[in-house]
Amino acid sequence: MNIIKRVKLNNFRCHDEFDLDCNRPTTLIIGENGSGKTSILEAIYLALRGKSFKGVDKEILRNNADYYRAEIELADAQKIIIRFNGNKKEFEIDGKKSLRLPKKNRYPVVLFEPDDIYLVGSSPSRRRDYFDELFKQINENYGIILGKYNKALRQRNDLLKEETISRDDLFSWNVMCANYGAEIIQWRVNNLAKINNKMTDIYRNIAKNDDSCEIKYLGFNVDENKYLQNLENNYEKDRILGYTTFGIHRDDYEFIFNNKKADGSASRGENRSMILALKFIEAQILEQEVGKKPVVLLDDIFSELDEMRQRHLIDNFKNYQMIITSTAVPSEMRVDKKL
Ligand SMILES: Nc1ncnc2c1ncn2[C@@H]1O[C@H](COP(=O)(O)OP(=O)(O)O)[C@@H](O)[C@H]1O
Ligand SMILES: [Mg+2]
Repeated sequence: MNIIKRVKLNNFRCHDEFDLDCNRPTTLIIGENGSGKTSILEAIYLALRGKSFKGVDKEILRNNADYYRAEIELADAQKIIIRFNGNKKEFEIDGKKSLRLPKKNRYPVVLFEPDDIYLVGSSPSRRRDYFDELFKQINENYGIILGKYNKALRQRNDLLKEETISRDDLFSWNVMCANYGAEIIQWRVNNLAKINNKMTDIYRNIAKNDDSCEIKYLGFNVDENKYLQNLENNYEKDRILGYTTFGIHRDDYEFIFNNKKADGSASRGENRSMILALKFIEAQILEQEVGKKPVVLLDDIFSELDEMRQRHLIDNFKNYQMIITSTAVPSEMRVDKKL
């Protein structure tokens, strides 16, 4: 289950030179705020997913340095080297170079950041991004279709802002938005059903009571024809506003607790337990769908959880490789690296 064995960084954010041996089931990294904990997880994520969860290469490049390098050693004797020279980034895997991380080398990750704790009550776009990232990991095609949708949407929005257009000018973009959009809806609804299948059981296992929860898709669950019709019907409105008012780029997700909207009805603790449940489900679904055991990255979340939930977290992920960062040492844990 040890997937990541070692992490070496040069000029990666605040790290000029950094070396971490993490060839064990659980690695605990301790350091003050600003000591570079998140940056280490960022490098691991970059090696496994091909992109960072928080910034672009120019931001990652250490101030005043002219290159960064990250070397991640994996259990199957594979080594992923990422180099950025200020302009261009390359991935090198066992001597083979490419501009992107090849699909076959991508590896599932469950990332748990402090912000995730507030997902239930955060903005629709935050929730949309959250589930988009998850669904992209579950299936590569989701990301490809979403990329195509976003491109078609941008073109449609650009046209809507032009002075002289007619209904007909939008037609081909409407068709594309409807085609990709309806497919995205299907993915979202299907993936949510998989999550919801497990949600209440796993929640009850954490909370030890009879409460129930699920996640609802707040969007129009329509087929391609109806989608297209909606776009056509909104022509006048979209023209006046200058953007596309209907579509999957505006949909949202709602957490439901005991059949009520969780935001506003569930307590702080209940919200946190729901997010914990979601994280455990993510790991299970990724393992099922991708066929690889995800690496679990827990970034500074212990301070957000009480001891009961901390224990649950460690316990539930005990069969996965965990890399954990924290400012304080959680009870009964051994420190592997101090920054
Ligand atoms: N490109 C960069 N060059 C140098 N320092 C950076 C760069 N990007 C971020 N930092 C700094 O690195 C420090 C560590 O960031 P981070 O990994 O988020 O620390 P932690 O998670 O331990 O709080 C922060 O103080 C941040 O300002
Ligand atoms: Mg941090």
